Amino acid sequence: MIADIEQKQAAFAAAAGQAATPDQLKTLRAEYLGKKGFIPQAMKQLRELSPDEKRACGKLINDFKTQVESRLEEIAGALQTTAPRPGSQSTFDPTLPGRKESPGALHPVTRTMDEIISIFISLGFNVEEGPEIESDYYNFEALNIPADHPARDMQDTFYIEDGRVLRTHTSPVQIRVMEKQKPPLRIIAPGRVYRSDSDLTHTPMFHQIEGLMVDKDVSFAHLKGIMDIFLHEVFGKKTKIRFRPSFFPFTCPSAEVDIQCVMCVGKGCRVCSQSGWLEILGAGMVDPAVFQHVDYDPEEWTGLAFGLGIERIAMLKYGVNDIRLFFENDLRFLRQF
Ligand code: DAH
Repeated sequence: MIADIEQKQAAFAAAAGQAATPDQLKTLRAEYLGKKGFIPQAMKQLRELSPDEKRACGKLINDFKTQVESRLEEIAGALQTTAPRPGSQSTFDPTLPGRKESPGALHPVTRTMDEIISIFISLGFNVEEGPEIESDYYNFEALNIPADHPARDMQDTFYIEDGRVLRTHTSPVQIRVMEKQKPPLRIIAPGRVYRSDSDLTHTPMFHQIEGLMVDKDVSFAHLKGIMDIFLHEVFGKKTKIRFRPSFFPFTCPSAEVDIQCVMCVGKGCRVCSQSGWLEILGAGMVDPAVFQHVDYDPEEWTGLAFGLGIERIAMLKYGVNDIRLFFENDLRFLRQF
């Protein structure tokens, strides 16, 4: 009898896999659970067995029964969701044109980010990440921005509980990487940053890429060379580039890097406020005070660093004049890329 039951189990599994209509389901139910069906009949036959056999076969049949019941229920459920509603068959018109599938595409900010990342990877930089919720120490203190420093005003910080902040820039990743890696190193850190600011060119969340290279005898010439290669790759070989002296607490000397206006090619227009130039990123040589926070010997190592806003580059690359468009998820806008 055991062999019988096992054979029926296999047969049921096969039949259940094929059942695709309510009629087939009904037949299956009758065949296994109906009064004359296999399971009730087998149960009747148990009476004629020895106590030992009865126990073994009884268990087998009971298990089989539960199995059949739950499988049939499953099939019934599936049939209900796939079966056409009454009457709906007549409304299906196979002559109508099908619905077009529209292809998905990467968001312009993601595309710009990916492009920039691959340029720096080709220059030997590794990609690193850091948390978006930062401590005051990493966001400010270790970057040589003490509590009373006026540079804290440059960044409209979102403060959250326990003195933590939403990072205002990707520069804290510099510190986190230097804490766990020994020089020489070459990294970029892409990610989201937050500032309480909102207008045509600012959103409370935007993206930056931070760069850091530390080695023996890294000089400002390396910084200029790397920025040249990067900006020519993004904006075209003919783009003019200039360095302007600036100030950041974590670099010395510091510079802001401008490219010739991509709209008017230097003639002067609304986008560049008639100056012919567009500010594109901040950079400089790592300040020895930063190295001291991570136990790098400033006599032995020098470094260059830079930070840039992705949306700003995407706006210039694609001629978008309002940064907020990137975050409204309006398909009419997004489909243009
Ligand atoms: N963290 C700066 C900002 O968000 C950008 C920056 C400037 C990063 C100079 C740097 C740098 O690494 O050297 O405004």
